[in-house]
Amino acid sequence: MSVPRLLHTAAELKAAIAETLAAKAAARSAGGDGAGERKPDGPLSLGLVPTMGALHTGHRAMMDAARAENDVVVATVFVNPLQFNDPEDLRRYPRTLEADLELLGDAGVDLVFAPEESEVYPGGPPLVRVSSGELGNRYEGASRPGHFDGVLTVVAKLLHYAAPTASPAVSPVRYRAYFGQKDAQQLALIRRMAADLGFDAEIKAVPVVRSADGLAESSRNVFLDPAHRRAAAVLSRALFALRDSVSAGSPPDLAGAVALVEAEPLVELDYFDIVDPQTLQPLGSADRPLEKPALALLAAQVGPVRLIDNLPLEIPRTG
Ligand code: PAF
Repeated sequence: MSVPRLLHTAAELKAAIAETLAAKAAARSAGGDGAGERKPDGPLSLGLVPTMGALHTGHRAMMDAARAENDVVVATVFVNPLQFNDPEDLRRYPRTLEADLELLGDAGVDLVFAPEESEVYPGGPPLVRVSSGELGNRYEGASRPGHFDGVLTVVAKLLHYAAPTASPAVSPVRYRAYFGQKDAQQLALIRRMAADLGFDAEIKAVPVVRSADGLAESSRNVFLDPAHRRAAAVLSRALFALRDSVSAGSPPDLAGAVALVEAEPLVELDYFDIVDPQTLQPLGSADRPLEKPALALLAAQVGPVRLIDNLPLEIPRTG
């Protein structure tokens, strides 16, 4: 296991990125990449994986994807106050930096940026923020006002801090940033932000990781007691049942999937919908098979925890 370098300020991070890229470039021209594993020819690459810590196997999959594709991997660990509209939720969000560093070292991450709040927001809450617009007001945004503006604002800052294009010693450098498919609305918004505001980074989605009972991995799962944890498994069962109806070439049985969730007394469903994966516009009608790939999207309160989950719905091949 390697020990990643821990940086606390944006200036330290930028200097460390420039140094690490320069070392990789030197190692490449000497015939290796410095880590014993040869990467394909072409420009060097940097993979950024933003997180709020409390890392689990879902994050590990993101680190592994970044490690497999890039010469340099940077992870960030920052619990962003701007995206919490409930102070109690922010207060109790798990903070586990030591364990996180172990997982990041094990995954071969090169650099970890773990700033204080005063580093990211030196003047307090920023006056100017990225607006998530109409797409940020639906679904998760409807019950968490301001949440996505807070997410986009911090992601924009993190993308700037880690941008390898700011490293004059080595160029060009390919820039990729990794986000979990589990937060489907967040992912769709980050893609739109990168396109609309002209970020250099290629935005990559990492598939949902599920535990054996089907529950999507989330930092908040630790707050589920055993009974609520058992009950929460109905969410993925309902998603898979819905997918089965689509795979069979039938109209999506959304009503059946909703009924499955509603039959579980410990689960209170907030929304369950079939949407376009990019725009999150509702799709499909109850009496016709889907005409294009879609995403089933849901959120529910399970005891003290709000859980979200989603599943791609592919159109069955004909012939
Ligand atoms: O998905 C998360 O963990 C956070 O929303 C992110 C992208 C790190 C921004 O704080």
